[in-house]
Amino acid sequence: MSALSKPRVLLIEDTVPLAKLYVEFLRGEPLDVVHVTRGKDALAQVDERAPDAVILDLKLPDMEGLDVLRLLRERDPGVSIVIITAHGSIDIAVEAMRLGAFDFIVKPFNADRLNLTLRNALERRTLTRMVEGYRKDLDRDRFYGFIGGSPEMQAVYRTIESVAPSRANVFITGESGTGKEVAAQAIHRASPRRSQPFVALNCAAIPKDLLESEIFGHVKGAFTGASGDRPGAAVLANGGTLFLDEICEMPIDLQSKLLRFVQTGAVVPVGSGQEERVDVRFVAASNRDPLAEVQAGRFREDLYYRLHVIPLILPPLRDRGEDVVEIARIFLADYAQEEGKSLTGFAPEVEARLRAYDWPGNVRQLQNVVRNVVVLQDGPVVTLDMLPPQVTGPVRLPSGGAATFAQSAPDLADDAILPLWRVEKDMIQRALRLCGDDVPRAALMLEISPSTVYRKLQQWRGAGESAA
Ligand SMILES: Nc1ncnc2c1ncn2[C@@H]1O[C@H](COP(=O)(O)OP(=O)(O)OP(=O)(O)O)[C@@H](O)[C@H]1O
Ligand SMILES: [Mg+2]
Repeated sequence: MSALSKPRVLLIEDTVPLAKLYVEFLRGEPLDVVHVTRGKDALAQVDERAPDAVILDLKLPDMEGLDVLRLLRERDPGVSIVIITAHGSIDIAVEAMRLGAFDFIVKPFNADRLNLTLRNALERRTLTRMVEGYRKDLDRDRFYGFIGGSPEMQAVYRTIESVAPSRANVFITGESGTGKEVAAQAIHRASPRRSQPFVALNCAAIPKDLLESEIFGHVKGAFTGASGDRPGAAVLANGGTLFLDEICEMPIDLQSKLLRFVQTGAVVPVGSGQEERVDVRFVAASNRDPLAEVQAGRFREDLYYRLHVIPLILPPLRDRGEDVVEIARIFLADYAQEEGKSLTGFAPEVEARLRAYDWPGNVRQLQNVVRNVVVLQDGPVVTLDMLPPQVTGPVRLPSGGAATFAQSAPDLADDAILPLWRVEKDMIQRALRLCGDDVPRAALMLEISPSTVYRKLQQWRGAGESAA
């Protein structure tokens, strides 16, 4: 109940003259009283708009009063329910109290009795809401998949919570590894669509010529290799959420098809003239600045405005204060358990180092660092010398092998300078070779996202070069 609206009271009483009398009792009060005579109507009312208090007669024509009580509390555990009961049924009223009713009044009762009980019930309701509110604001060092209680993350949680119930499109930005995918999932899980599918599509990881069919599906024979009809992500996400990850990597011609879909909800599979309507909520993400992409002519402005309804910005890990240590501790406990190691905490100077470091790869990098320590080290406490490197030196392979990724281009003369792209390419190819072409693993060691590796491979292939 907001300060402006009157508290809403739902009166469930099948004897109409009595109901009229009770409404009369409450006439002088600043209340919005709604009367129904049946359990089913009560539940329908509650689904439409939640009351602050309920006055429930336990004897109803269509349902058991105790069942109505249970269902009301299932819908809203904080609602205050006052039972009205005949003198002979006090046992049931007591049972109702056990099931969570706030109080009961024995018929017949006068206006004062009803008013007093109702006032208490509404007060209890207000207190419950206040406590819930405080708890929500204080207790949040975890939120869906997120760890971290910093004010920066509290703001993220609040935004997610307030957009989740609507179907407004959300555009998530943030550096690599800040948790954009975690945020997309949180939006879905906090939304009324949570029991419907969440479908993620990584626009950078899918080869350009397959992307259209991945989104919109295709019909048999649409192109070589299309041996049957196949639904795309848009149809698979029907009723739920479609997460368009790395959206700025989408080719411009496909952007116009996506725009039409976002505007109309109509899907046309590749090779088909038939359109199908779907209902999806769009969440897009990018580690680029989408507006800069628009200005550079790489991203359609109209699509930008369609998708960028609610911006959600994930702060870099270095701006989240104590979150670094909080996240590191939880990762350490989880990984130590997974790997059967006895590491239980960080030495104070290690925590100081974690706070001071600037984490260019954000939470993913922190994850890798902690994983690295747990795999390679043991002992109750993580000491400074156990910390891998970008912190202190070259990254070692988990096998403990002598190879390091930091020593690139071994035959290079001291005064030679290579273009940066060349060094990057060498390093990625080297990582792939050492990891047996396992892209996710190579990406882990390089501390970049697998999609970045895929994207680079695709670029090199596009440039007519062999990547491996
Ligand atoms: N606040 C957090 N608490 C715990 N784990 C997190 C948090 N943020 C991210 N992670 C974890 O870090 C990893 C990277 O997160 P995610 O993939 O969502 O990042 P991203 O922003 O999508 O990165 P990229 O731009 O590289 O795709 C994931 O394993 C995720 O579970
Ligand atoms: Mg991502």
